[in-house]
Amino acid sequence: MLGLTACGSAENDGNTSSTATTSKTETQQTETAKQTENREDKSTPADTAAAPETADEAKSSGKDTIVVYFSATGTTKKIAERIASVTNADLYEIIPAEPYSDADLNWNDKNSRTTIEMNDPNARPAIADDTISFDGYSTVYIGYPIWWGDAPRIMSTFVEAHDFSGLTVIPFCTSGGSGIGRSGSNLASQAGSGNWLDGDRLDGGISEDELKTWISKYN
Ligand SMILES: Cc1cc2nc3c(=O)[nH]c(=O)nc-3n(C[C@H](O)[C@H](O)[C@H](O)COP(=O)(O)O)c2cc1C
Repeated sequence: MLGLTACGSAENDGNTSSTATTSKTETQQTETAKQTENREDKSTPADTAAAPETADEAKSSGKDTIVVYFSATGTTKKIAERIASVTNADLYEIIPAEPYSDADLNWNDKNSRTTIEMNDPNARPAIADDTISFDGYSTVYIGYPIWWGDAPRIMSTFVEAHDFSGLTVIPFCTSGGSGIGRSGSNLASQAGSGNWLDGDRLDGGISEDELKTWISKYN
């Protein structure tokens, strides 16, 4: 698996957004905090301060764009926050019902949770509290890390649970070096609705100018 040696390196781009609009229960916030503790980059605490209580509250923001992401070790989270900041979008984190521990994320262990999940195309890890509704949005950025060349199976859980009809969907990923490959088109097939664009791999250390240039491709 090319590029894995670069995986997990801490990236400090420092430009975070305060637009968190995730619907999180107290339990989820605890889970998120636990996950954050597991991350190699411990400098970024979970940003849950501005979380509204319900998905309806999130929709009342009036924004037409939302950035949905899953992140196990914080790299995709930082990029998602920056995209939300630049695009004035809402932000929604996909939180696993069972957080991924360091042992779960060990790709060198053929019996680790992620290895087992990624070896099974039908694995659908549960999401903690999937309350998001896309009503009122026209554009969805959807981000995830690359695991074994594909999107984590929890992304399949998410896209199969939602209707993307009428939405422009822009996938983005972070990785140790692998490109986005077929991960976006695989998710598009699983979603079965929505206008899914090709999307891209974004480097965790992408500059603000590069990020804005990437975003401007879609505006
Ligand atoms: C189980 C597992 C498998 C991975 N597989 C790949 C891979 O195939 N190619 C790659 O370049 N990076 C791979 N990585 C590295 C991650 O894609 C990379 O560290 C990513 O930026 C992590 O994002 P996150 O911090 O948002 O979870 C893998 C990481 C894990 C934990």
